Amino acid sequence: MTSPAQPAADDPSPEGFPSSESGPTVAFDPRSLSAEEVYALLTHAVAPRPIAWVSTLSGDGRPNLAPYSYFNVGGQNPPSVVFSPNGGGGGREKDTLRNIRETGEYVINLASRAQAAAMNATAADLPHGQSEWDAAGLSPRPSAVVRPGRVAGSPFALECRLFQIVSHGSGAGAANYVIGEVVHAHVDRSLLNAAGELTSLDSRACGGLGRLGGDWYVDGRGDALFQLDRPG
Ligand SMILES: Cc1cc2nc3c(=O)[nH]c(=O)nc-3n(C[C@H](O)[C@H](O)[C@H](O)COP(=O)(O)O)c2cc1C
Repeated sequence: MTSPAQPAADDPSPEGFPSSESGPTVAFDPRSLSAEEVYALLTHAVAPRPIAWVSTLSGDGRPNLAPYSYFNVGGQNPPSVVFSPNGGGGGREKDTLRNIRETGEYVINLASRAQAAAMNATAADLPHGQSEWDAAGLSPRPSAVVRPGRVAGSPFALECRLFQIVSHGSGAGAANYVIGEVVHAHVDRSLLNAAGELTSLDSRACGGLGRLGGDWYVDGRGDALFQLDRPG
Protein backbone atom coordinates (compact mmCIF):
# COMPACT_ATOMS: atom_id res chain seq x y z
CA MET A 1 0.00 0.00 0.00
CA THR A 2 1.44 3.36 -1.01
CA SER A 3 1.35 6.01 1.67
CA PRO A 4 -0.95 8.98 1.01
CA ALA A 5 0.56 11.90 -0.88
CA GLN A 6 0.89 15.32 0.71
CA PRO A 7 -2.53 16.85 1.41
CA ALA A 8 -3.83 18.88 -1.49
CA ALA A 9 -3.88 22.64 -0.95
CA ASP A 10 -7.54 22.79 -2.02
CA ASP A 11 -8.54 20.48 0.84
CA PRO A 12 -8.65 22.97 3.72
CA SER A 13 -9.13 21.94 7.33
CA PRO A 14 -11.98 23.60 9.24
CA GLU A 15 -9.43 26.24 10.24
CA GLY A 16 -8.77 27.10 6.61
CA PHE A 17 -5.32 25.49 6.44
CA PRO A 18 -4.37 22.54 4.23
CA SER A 19 -5.67 19.38 5.89
CA SER A 20 -3.43 17.28 8.10
CA GLU A 21 -3.57 13.51 8.63
CA SER A 22 -6.77 14.04 10.63
CA GLY A 23 -8.63 15.87 7.81
CA PRO A 24 -11.85 14.49 6.31
CA THR A 25 -10.19 13.31 3.08
CA VAL A 26 -6.85 11.76 2.18
CA ALA A 27 -5.13 13.01 -0.97
CA PHE A 28 -3.41 10.70 -3.45
CA ASP A 29 -1.30 11.61 -6.44
CA PRO A 30 -2.12 8.90 -9.04
CA ARG A 31 1.45 9.12 -10.34
CA SER A 32 2.73 7.76 -7.02
CA LEU A 33 0.30 4.82 -6.91
CA SER A 34 0.82 1.26 -8.18
CA ALA A 35 -1.28 -0.03 -11.08
CA GLU A 36 -3.35 -2.09 -8.60
CA GLU A 37 -4.03 0.99 -6.47
CA VAL A 38 -5.10 3.12 -9.45
CA TYR A 39 -7.42 0.31 -10.57
CA ALA A 40 -8.92 0.01 -7.07
CA LEU A 41 -9.36 3.79 -6.83
CA LEU A 42 -11.12 4.20 -10.19
CA THR A 43 -13.31 1.09 -10.07
CA HIS A 44 -14.59 1.88 -6.56
CA ALA A 45 -15.06 5.60 -7.28
CA VAL A 46 -16.79 5.17 -10.66
CA ALA A 47 -19.43 2.66 -9.63
CA PRO A 48 -21.81 1.14 -10.40
CA ARG A 49 -20.86 0.81 -14.05
CA PRO A 50 -23.11 -0.76 -16.67
CA ILE A 51 -21.70 -3.79 -18.44
CA ALA A 52 -21.33 -4.02 -22.20
CA TRP A 53 -21.40 -7.71 -23.11
CA VAL A 54 -19.68 -7.37 -26.47
CA SER A 55 -20.14 -9.81 -29.34
CA THR A 56 -17.67 -9.65 -32.24
CA LEU A 57 -16.35 -11.73 -35.13
CA SER A 58 -12.70 -12.01 -36.07
CA GLY A 59 -11.74 -11.07 -39.62
CA ASP A 60 -12.01 -14.74 -40.57
CA GLY A 61 -15.44 -15.09 -38.96
CA ARG A 62 -14.75 -16.66 -35.55
CA PRO A 63 -17.18 -15.47 -32.81
CA ASN A 64 -16.08 -13.84 -29.55
CA LEU A 65 -18.03 -12.60 -26.52
CA ALA A 66 -16.67 -10.68 -23.49
CA PRO A 67 -17.88 -8.26 -20.79
CA TYR A 68 -16.64 -4.66 -20.50
CA SER A 69 -17.74 -2.41 -17.63
CA TYR A 70 -15.75 0.61 -18.75
CA PHE A 71 -18.88 1.45 -20.73
CA ASN A 72 -21.34 4.28 -21.23
CA VAL A 73 -23.58 6.27 -23.59
CA GLY A 74 -22.40 9.68 -24.83
CA GLY A 75 -25.20 11.05 -27.00
CA GLN A 76 -28.23 10.18 -29.05
CA ASN A 77 -27.87 12.21 -32.25
CA PRO A 78 -26.68 9.83 -33.63
CA PRO A 79 -26.94 7.19 -30.88
CA SER A 80 -23.37 6.90 -29.61
CA VAL A 81 -21.81 4.53 -27.07
CA VAL A 82 -18.27 3.98 -25.78
CA PHE A 83 -16.44 1.17 -24.00
CA SER A 84 -12.78 0.55 -23.28
CA PRO A 85 -10.82 -2.68 -23.70
CA ASN A 86 -7.57 -2.07 -21.82
CA GLY A 87 -4.18 -2.98 -23.16
CA GLY A 88 -3.13 -6.42 -21.98
CA GLY A 89 0.22 -7.59 -20.63
CA GLY A 90 3.09 -7.60 -23.11
CA GLY A 91 1.25 -5.15 -25.38
CA ARG A 92 -1.33 -7.80 -26.29
CA GLU A 93 -4.68 -6.49 -27.58
CA LYS A 94 -7.85 -8.07 -26.23
CA ASP A 95 -9.69 -10.14 -28.84
CA THR A 96 -12.72 -7.81 -28.78
CA LEU A 97 -10.58 -4.80 -29.76
CA ARG A 98 -8.65 -6.76 -32.35
CA ASN A 99 -11.89 -8.04 -33.92
CA ILE A 100 -13.45 -4.56 -34.03
CA ARG A 101 -10.32 -3.18 -35.71
CA GLU A 102 -10.65 -5.97 -38.30
CA THR A 103 -14.41 -5.77 -38.95
CA GLY A 104 -15.76 -2.42 -37.59
CA GLU A 105 -18.87 -4.18 -36.24
CA TYR A 106 -20.08 -5.41 -32.86
CA VAL A 107 -23.15 -5.94 -30.69
CA ILE A 108 -23.39 -4.60 -27.14
CA ASN A 109 -25.73 -6.84 -25.15
CA LEU A 110 -26.98 -5.75 -21.72
CA ALA A 111 -27.02 -8.64 -19.27
CA SER A 112 -29.89 -9.43 -16.92
CA ARG A 113 -29.44 -10.71 -13.36
CA ALA A 114 -30.25 -14.22 -14.61
CA GLN A 115 -27.34 -13.95 -17.06
CA ALA A 116 -24.77 -12.81 -14.47
CA ALA A 117 -22.94 -16.14 -14.18
CA ALA A 118 -22.81 -16.64 -17.96
CA MET A 119 -21.60 -13.07 -18.45
CA ASN A 120 -18.84 -13.65 -15.89
CA ALA A 121 -17.85 -16.94 -17.56
CA THR A 122 -17.22 -15.12 -20.85
CA ALA A 123 -14.47 -13.06 -19.15
CA ALA A 124 -12.24 -16.14 -19.30
CA ASP A 125 -8.98 -15.39 -21.12
CA LEU A 126 -9.25 -17.91 -23.95
CA PRO A 127 -6.78 -18.12 -26.83
CA HIS A 128 -7.63 -15.88 -29.82
CA GLY A 129 -10.22 -17.60 -31.99
CA GLN A 130 -11.57 -19.87 -29.22
CA SER A 131 -15.21 -19.00 -28.55
CA GLU A 132 -16.50 -17.85 -25.14
CA TRP A 133 -20.02 -18.58 -26.46
CA ASP A 134 -19.29 -22.31 -26.24
CA ALA A 135 -17.45 -22.01 -22.90
CA ALA A 136 -20.50 -20.26 -21.34
CA GLY A 137 -23.07 -22.55 -22.98
CA LEU A 138 -24.54 -19.71 -25.05
CA SER A 139 -25.52 -19.61 -28.71
CA PRO A 140 -25.82 -16.41 -30.77
CA ARG A 141 -29.05 -15.19 -32.35
CA PRO A 142 -28.75 -13.43 -35.70
CA SER A 143 -28.45 -9.65 -35.73
CA ALA A 144 -30.34 -7.46 -38.20
CA VAL A 145 -27.66 -5.31 -39.85
CA VAL A 146 -24.24 -6.36 -38.47
CA ARG A 147 -22.63 -9.76 -38.78
CA PRO A 148 -21.83 -10.62 -35.11
CA GLY A 149 -24.71 -12.37 -33.35
CA ARG A 150 -26.50 -11.18 -30.20
CA VAL A 151 -27.13 -12.92 -26.88
CA ALA A 152 -30.54 -14.55 -26.58
CA GLY A 153 -32.41 -13.38 -23.47
CA SER A 154 -30.61 -10.05 -23.14
CA PRO A 155 -33.08 -7.25 -22.34
CA PHE A 156 -31.33 -4.88 -24.77
CA ALA A 157 -28.97 -5.59 -27.68
CA LEU A 158 -27.38 -2.63 -29.51
CA GLU A 159 -25.93 -3.37 -32.94
CA CYS A 160 -22.99 -1.01 -33.47
CA ARG A 161 -20.67 0.21 -36.21
CA LEU A 162 -17.27 1.55 -35.22
CA PHE A 163 -16.91 5.35 -35.36
CA GLN A 164 -13.44 5.77 -33.84
CA ILE A 165 -10.92 4.20 -31.48
CA VAL A 166 -9.12 6.67 -29.21
CA SER A 167 -6.14 5.22 -27.34
CA HIS A 168 -4.86 6.90 -24.17
CA GLY A 169 -1.58 5.49 -22.89
CA SER A 170 0.21 2.32 -23.87
CA GLY A 171 0.91 -1.11 -22.38
CA ALA A 172 -1.10 -2.96 -19.72
CA GLY A 173 -4.09 -1.03 -18.42
CA ALA A 174 -4.03 1.64 -21.13
CA ALA A 175 -7.43 2.84 -22.35
CA ASN A 176 -8.75 2.21 -25.86
CA TYR A 177 -12.01 4.11 -26.13
CA VAL A 178 -14.09 2.32 -28.74
CA ILE A 179 -16.75 4.78 -29.89
CA GLY A 180 -19.58 3.30 -31.88
CA GLU A 181 -22.85 4.29 -33.50
CA VAL A 182 -25.91 2.21 -32.65
CA VAL A 183 -27.35 1.23 -36.02
CA HIS A 184 -30.03 -1.19 -34.81
CA ALA A 185 -31.54 -2.17 -31.45
CA HIS A 186 -33.45 -5.10 -29.96
CA VAL A 187 -35.58 -4.70 -26.82
CA ASP A 188 -37.17 -7.51 -24.84
CA ARG A 189 -40.87 -7.45 -25.68
CA SER A 190 -41.87 -7.77 -22.00
CA LEU A 191 -40.36 -4.33 -21.32
CA LEU A 192 -42.66 -2.58 -23.82
CA ASN A 193 -46.29 -1.61 -23.29
CA ALA A 194 -49.05 -2.80 -25.65
CA ALA A 195 -48.36 0.14 -27.99
CA GLY A 196 -44.67 -0.77 -28.11
CA GLU A 197 -43.56 2.69 -27.00
CA LEU A 198 -39.93 3.15 -25.97
CA THR A 199 -40.84 6.34 -24.09
CA SER A 200 -42.96 4.35 -21.63
CA LEU A 201 -40.23 1.92 -20.50
CA ASP A 202 -40.31 1.26 -16.75
CA SER A 203 -36.87 1.86 -15.19
CA ARG A 204 -37.69 -0.54 -12.36
CA ALA A 205 -38.02 -3.38 -14.87
CA CYS A 206 -35.19 -2.34 -17.22
CA GLY A 207 -32.36 -1.77 -14.75
CA GLY A 208 -29.35 -3.68 -15.98
CA LEU A 209 -26.57 -5.41 -14.13
CA GLY A 210 -23.93 -3.03 -12.75
CA ARG A 211 -20.37 -3.63 -11.66
CA LEU A 212 -18.80 -2.01 -8.59
CA GLY A 213 -15.27 -2.46 -7.23
CA GLY A 214 -13.72 -5.90 -6.84
CA ASP A 215 -16.15 -8.76 -7.44
CA TRP A 216 -19.25 -6.79 -6.42
CA TYR A 217 -22.26 -6.28 -8.68
CA VAL A 218 -25.66 -4.64 -8.39
CA ASP A 219 -28.96 -5.73 -9.88
CA GLY A 220 -30.39 -2.46 -11.24
CA ARG A 221 -33.93 -3.63 -10.53
CA GLY A 222 -33.44 -3.85 -6.75
CA ASP A 223 -34.82 -2.00 -3.73
CA ALA A 224 -32.00 0.54 -4.00
CA LEU A 225 -33.87 2.44 -6.74
CA PHE A 226 -35.40 5.83 -5.94
CA GLN A 227 -36.72 8.83 -7.89
CA LEU A 228 -35.78 12.51 -7.86
CA ASP A 229 -37.75 15.33 -9.52
CA ARG A 230 -35.62 17.50 -11.81
CA PRO A 231 -35.36 21.13 -10.66
CA GLY A 232 -37.23 23.68 -12.74
C1 LIG B 1 -17.89 -7.70 -15.34
C2 LIG B 1 -16.58 -7.54 -16.05
C3 LIG B 1 -16.25 -6.33 -16.62
C4 LIG B 1 -15.03 -6.17 -17.30
N1 LIG B 1 -14.73 -4.96 -17.83
C5 LIG B 1 -13.58 -4.78 -18.52
C6 LIG B 1 -13.29 -3.52 -19.12
O1 LIG B 1 -14.07 -2.56 -19.06
N2 LIG B 1 -12.12 -3.40 -19.80
C7 LIG B 1 -11.25 -4.44 -19.93
O2 LIG B 1 -10.21 -4.28 -20.57
N3 LIG B 1 -11.52 -5.65 -19.38
C8 LIG B 1 -12.66 -5.84 -18.70
N4 LIG B 1 -12.96 -7.07 -18.15
C9 LIG B 1 -12.05 -8.20 -18.42
C10 LIG B 1 -12.33 -8.80 -19.82
O3 LIG B 1 -13.67 -9.25 -19.92
C11 LIG B 1 -11.37 -9.98 -20.05
O4 LIG B 1 -10.04 -9.48 -20.17
C12 LIG B 1 -11.71 -10.82 -21.26
O5 LIG B 1 -10.89 -11.97 -21.29
C13 LIG B 1 -11.52 -10.08 -22.57
O6 LIG B 1 -11.95 -10.95 -23.59
P1 LIG B 1 -11.55 -10.80 -25.10
O7 LIG B 1 -10.02 -10.88 -25.18
O8 LIG B 1 -12.22 -12.00 -25.74
O9 LIG B 1 -12.07 -9.50 -25.61
C14 LIG B 1 -14.13 -7.26 -17.42
C15 LIG B 1 -14.47 -8.49 -16.84
C16 LIG B 1 -15.66 -8.63 -16.15
C17 LIG B 1 -16.03 -9.95 -15.53
